[in-house]
Amino acid sequence: MKKVTKAIFPVAGLGTRFLPATKSIPKEIMTLVDRPLIQYAIDEARAAGIKEFIFVTARGKSALEDYFDIAPELENTLRKKGKTELLQTLKSTNMDSGEIAYIRQNKAMGLGHAVWCARRLMGNEPFAVILPDDVIAAEKPCLQQMMEAHAEIGGNMVAAMEVPKEKTSSYGVLGVQQDMGSVVSVNDMVEKPAVEDAPSNLAVIGRYILTPNVMRNLNKAKSGSGGEVQLTDAIAQEIGASGDVYGFRFRGQRYDCGSKAGFLQATVAFGLAREDLRDEFSDFIDSMVAAKTAAQ
Ligand code: UTP
Repeated sequence: MKKVTKAIFPVAGLGTRFLPATKSIPKEIMTLVDRPLIQYAIDEARAAGIKEFIFVTARGKSALEDYFDIAPELENTLRKKGKTELLQTLKSTNMDSGEIAYIRQNKAMGLGHAVWCARRLMGNEPFAVILPDDVIAAEKPCLQQMMEAHAEIGGNMVAAMEVPKEKTSSYGVLGVQQDMGSVVSVNDMVEKPAVEDAPSNLAVIGRYILTPNVMRNLNKAKSGSGGEVQLTDAIAQEIGASGDVYGFRFRGQRYDCGSKAGFLQATVAFGLAREDLRDEFSDFIDSMVAAKTAAQ
């Protein structure tokens, strides 16, 4: 089986849930503590062995491209001031020339369409897809967990987690053929089903390892749910064809940073996880909770 070394990062969405901020700031540049969402995604991909990073961007996203570039003036200033630690932090965000590629999606026609925009760069190889607004806190990064399972089982693999039944209509949902614990084989996959039609409460979240067949399916894709080209539909087509679609229950906590509530939860969790902030921040949270309780 060919090793997975390429990952697509679809970042061309409009981010309407964060307007007005996203009028001029790409959602993926918003920060959890002091690192933009996109940095968490890149670090996770690197840990999983990804060597080529392909961004599907759009108008208004140039801040993303700048973020990965070198910043000579800033570096010089930090060097002169002897701020070695900060300099290292800054340099760790640089991407080598040729390691990163940007492809433009000129109309937000859905996640499937965004992935399809990268087709010419993918060759006939399996590839990963990471949605940076799904941030996953885990001892072993989620994509790395998936790569290890994928090396044994192959096929198409999607990260999955149980959600309350009434929330299934917000996700792609898996029909479970065989439950093998962390891996389930899939016999159905539906994007945002009506709650009563959801085949289970096992929802797809933003990590995928896909075969080139899925890209071929996207080539032929018609608009699915919501008038957009759905990645879910292109993966679902593989269920009957090759029979190899798996859900992977990852170990970790996922935060939906594409939603305001999820982003705030992640900010609290990542703030509390930081040694340099923990004491002051948890005192503050305790005082907020105490004040709320006293007011009730
Ligand atoms: P979302 O469903 O979160 O959409 O996309 P969005 O536009 O980013 O945000 P809202 O719903 O308007 O607030 C999931 C992922 O797919 C990418 C997004 O950038 C995000 O990473 N995407 C979505 C694209 O790249 N292109 C699209 O046409 C749609």
